[in-house]
Amino acid sequence: MLFTISESDVLKALRRVQDPARGQDIVTLGMVSGLHVAKGDVTFLLTVDSAQGVAMEPLRQAAEDAVAKLRGARKVSAILTAEREPANDAPPVAAKKGPAPLREMPAVRQIIAVASGKGGVGKSTVAVNLALGLRRAGLSVGLMDADIYGPSIPRMLNLHEKPVIGENKKLVPLSTYGLKVMSMGLLVDEAAPMIWRGPMVQSAVRQFLEDVEWSNDGAMLDVLVVDMPPGTGDAQLTLAQKVPLSGAVIVSTPQDIALIDARKGLEMFRRTDVPVLGIVENMSYFCCPHCGGRSEIFGHGGARAEADKLGVPFLGEIPLHALIRTLSDAGTPVVAARPDSAEAKPYLAMAQMVADSLKSKAAAA
Ligand SMILES: Nc1ncnc2c1ncn2[C@@H]1O[C@H](COP(=O)(O)OP(=O)(O)OP(=O)(O)O)[C@@H](O)[C@H]1O
Ligand SMILES: [Mg+2]
Repeated sequence: MLFTISESDVLKALRRVQDPARGQDIVTLGMVSGLHVAKGDVTFLLTVDSAQGVAMEPLRQAAEDAVAKLRGARKVSAILTAEREPANDAPPVAAKKGPAPLREMPAVRQIIAVASGKGGVGKSTVAVNLALGLRRAGLSVGLMDADIYGPSIPRMLNLHEKPVIGENKKLVPLSTYGLKVMSMGLLVDEAAPMIWRGPMVQSAVRQFLEDVEWSNDGAMLDVLVVDMPPGTGDAQLTLAQKVPLSGAVIVSTPQDIALIDARKGLEMFRRTDVPVLGIVENMSYFCCPHCGGRSEIFGHGGARAEADKLGVPFLGEIPLHALIRTLSDAGTPVVAARPDSAEAKPYLAMAQMVADSLKSKAAAA
């Protein structure tokens, strides 16, 4: 006989889960919403204070377990969400132009965002190799994975250790290849079905800036590279407004559609007064690993022409090359593993251009 679960079965099970901080069950507290039950598959949202995000993970797990124990339950997903921002944060739309001051300035001289209009264009690969290139240019560098929806930096740098809390109650970033690294992927189980809504993303990113010990043995970090979540939605816009960014690097692929998306990304930074340090064209041409031949599958020159038209620097073309992917997948990015290879060259050249423009910005300030 087949057992079917009803919404009231699920709610009954959830009434047995208490929020330890408030001593009442999560249904009575009004934390459960968006309940969806279909043939034993159960999904629901658990609304928490955006300031408490990660700390609520055990409660999310407990809620999921309580429902999973029901007879007939198949796949159960409890999704943490934050509808409201903490009272001291202005809502995204009303936020005034320019970054609101952080509660405590992070120990970082300059913050640059690596962004793209759409996903999958190689943003994280660029962020990692740019950070490594800036390190090779002699700067002290941090890398922050703000892609809370799909953090990939830990995999790209083969990092698995859970960060510890240091003496000053701040999270200690992990160190690898001379970089200081922090990612949400290091703090939560990669498989946890967590969907962070806009406000949650912002507060997580702010927390990363404020509560991570970025300083280098007491000295300020020269530059923090931020791998942004893909897209140009509210979350990204607010990020651009609230984090004191020194500049943004836009990653695009040569197809027209990706360029249109890149333009959206660029517009977003312009609207928020964040200087665009340049556009980099990824997967610009295909490098055959067998004959070394170059094929321009998507045409050529689109991003450079676009950058010229928009009056922003062009930071170069990165080939689509199997080595770039395999080294990334192995946790040893090309700039670290093969700094002298032809594939590392465009990343190093881009890093030098970014370092130069940061230097001139710092001199002008
Ligand atoms: N130039 C390149 N040559 C070959 N493979 C590449 C190149 N750039 C990126 N890749 C590969 O493409 C895939 C997507 O890259 P990446 O994760 O950097 O993109 P992303 O824009 O950060 O994606 P997401 O939007 O999911 O965060 C990865 O497997 C990566 O190794
Ligand atoms: Mg990414």
